[in-house]
Order: sequence, then C-alpha cells, then structure tokens
Amino acid sequence: MAQLFTPFTLKSITLKNRIGIPPMCQYSAAEDGVANNWHKQHYAELARGGAGLVVVEATAASPEGRISPNDLGLWNDEQAAELAKVATLIKDNGSVAGIQIAHAGRKASANRPWEGDDHLTEDDPRGWDTIAPSAIAFGANLPKTPKAMTQSDIDRVQQDFVAAAQRALDAGFEWLELHFAHGYLAQSFFNRDANQRTDEYGGSKEGRAKFLLDTLKAVREVWPEELPLTARFGVIEYDGRDEETLAESIWLAQQFKAHGLDFLSVSFGFSTPNVDIPWGPSMLAQTAEKVRRESGLPIASAWGFDQPQDAERAILEGQMDQVLIGRAYLANPRYTYQLAKALELDDASWVLPAPYAHWIGRY
Ligand code: FNR
Repeated sequence: MAQLFTPFTLKSITLKNRIGIPPMCQYSAAEDGVANNWHKQHYAELARGGAGLVVVEATAASPEGRISPNDLGLWNDEQAAELAKVATLIKDNGSVAGIQIAHAGRKASANRPWEGDDHLTEDDPRGWDTIAPSAIAFGANLPKTPKAMTQSDIDRVQQDFVAAAQRALDAGFEWLELHFAHGYLAQSFFNRDANQRTDEYGGSKEGRAKFLLDTLKAVREVWPEELPLTARFGVIEYDGRDEETLAESIWLAQQFKAHGLDFLSVSFGFSTPNVDIPWGPSMLAQTAEKVRRESGLPIASAWGFDQPQDAERAILEGQMDQVLIGRAYLANPRYTYQLAKALELDDASWVLPAPYAHWIGRY
C-alpha cells in the first residue's frame, strides 16, 4: 500500500490521503475581491480530482494586503458569502476545504504575474500605499517603498486576520492556513533585512517573531481548538546565510507549536531578490524533515514533489506528513489518479468519484 494514500488525522479532521493542493492565487477576481465562477469551477475541479486537502489561494485579510487588485479578499460579508459556496463545492466533491489568509505587506499593489509581476506604477489608479515592518523596499521588480507600520497599524492588521479567520470559519472552511511565508508581511517581520525596527517588534529573534506569534495567538482564540490551525512559513532563503536562518526558523516553529499551531507548511522565505535557489525535485525534503524532527510539528512541503516516487518517498521516509502538489494539478486536475496508477494502488481509479472511477476501472 502506497503510504501516500494512507489517511491523516489532525484534530477532528481526517484527510483521506497525504496529498494536499497548496494555495495558488488565481488573480481572477474583480477589484471587489469576491470569488466568481472561475474560482468555483477551479476549486470544484481540484476537489473532484481526489486530493485529501484543497487549500484556497492567498485571500487577503484587508484591501491593502492583496498582492494584486485581482486577489480574493475576506474582509467583508459579500466575499465570505461567495467563499462559503467555494467551501461547499470543495466538500461536496470529496476534499477537506482549507483557506490561506494573507497580507502581502511590501509586495502588495502589484500587477498580475502574467502582466508584469511588478509594482503598479504610482499613477495607476488601481494601486495603493503599502505597509511593512520598516520603510524598506523589496527591490528588483517591486521597488515601491512601504510605510513602516505604527503600533495601531499592527493592531489593526492583527484584528483583520482575526476577523478573516472568523469569516472563514463561518463560511465552512475546516482548515486554516496563516500565510507567514514568501516575503509577505509576516515573513518580512521575521526577516532581519526587511525588519529594521528598534521597538519590541524588531532586533532579536524574539522581537522579530512577536508579530507572527501575537497574530497566531489572536487567531487561535477564534479558531476552534478541534480544527487545524496551520501556517506556511519560509524557513530558508538561499541568500548565503542559510544555517543561521534555518536555526532561527526551527526555533520559531517550536514557538508556533507552543502558541497553539497544529501543522506547518515548510516553504521558502522569498524575502530578498538576491537568492540562489537550487531548484530541483524534492528540494525541500531534507529541510522539512529537520524542521519536523526538531519542532515536533506535523509538516507539509511543496516544490517539486509531483513525481509519484518522490511524493511516496517523502511520506514513507517520514520527511513530512503531507505532500503538497501544485502545478501538476493545474495541468491535470485528476492528477491523483496518475499518482495512484504509478504507485500501483489497488483499484487506482477509485481515488476519483464513482461516476468516473467505475468506468475508468472497468474496461
Ligand atoms: C503559487 N504559490 C502560492 N503559495 C502560497 O503560499 N500562496 C499562494 O496563494 C500561492 N499562489 C501561487 C499561484 C500559482 C499559480 C503557483 C504556481 C504557485 C506556491 C504554491 O503553493 C506551491 O508552493 C508551488 O506551486 C510549488 O509546488 P509545485 O507546483 O512544485 O508542486
């Protein structure tokens, strides 16, 4: 029996297999941030394809937290009402419905990736002022200098995360992921270069962790104890200081656990454009295993785990509890069936719903 197809239970939620589809922004909402038919069809198809977990894309907790003007949002009831339909579609099609709530920080106010992937220009009426721990631009394609957040900005953003979590719960999501990764707001609080603050939110690793841990604590108060509260965090940057960054990240993962986090999705920091990432299959496998062993948290990781034997090995060898597969599912929403066939699962077609499985398996 392929280990990839064993169930995984976290709190009151049991996933039918170890495959998760990670959040992937569609940049396809109108400027109101409301999910539309694109999102509904997209997520229904992904769920129908047989992965145990489908996590809805980075969904902004506030308007200025969007990456682009076309991101999903979760700061009002209209957005929540349409996302509730997305959650129902995911569940009705056999997956657990997760959602990632996010704030893009200094990377916000950008064009869609296929329309430049750069900051909107100052004269673009769709743009907005960005905020971050310090008034330091990301650089490269994202040159806009953010405003350094005041205490009241910090309090407000944390309340926005709490309100978005509450709305996600009311909308029927059962798995919440805090976006603490990829150089967005939370990741940039922990990053030494992006965070030059001299108050209690900066300096030592304890200071740089404060925004993340306070946000986690505040969300935990509204997110039910019996449902998984998870985060995605970039544990490594590939900026030449990896040993130090990874050690600090493992310390932070331990703090996450102590503050009520149930599960961590291990990713890259993407905090600076000056990186040299050694792209390749299963590239975060060893790193994820180390974080899992030293933090005691259940772990998932993405980036190049789409080949069946790579995905199976990651679970079999205990490197992680769940494998995240993204782009292969964009190419083929029924990718779970390809994995099941390649791993010689008995009745492989039955990873899909019966109206498909019966016929695929029969002739
Ligand atoms: C992403 N990724 C991403 N990550 C995240 O945490 N939140 C997000 O909203 C997005 N958005 C997004 C959009 C698109 C189109 C892609 C391709 C990727 C990263 C994604 O979750 C995943 O980590 C990568 O795709 C790597 O996994 P694969 O594709 O190698 O299996």
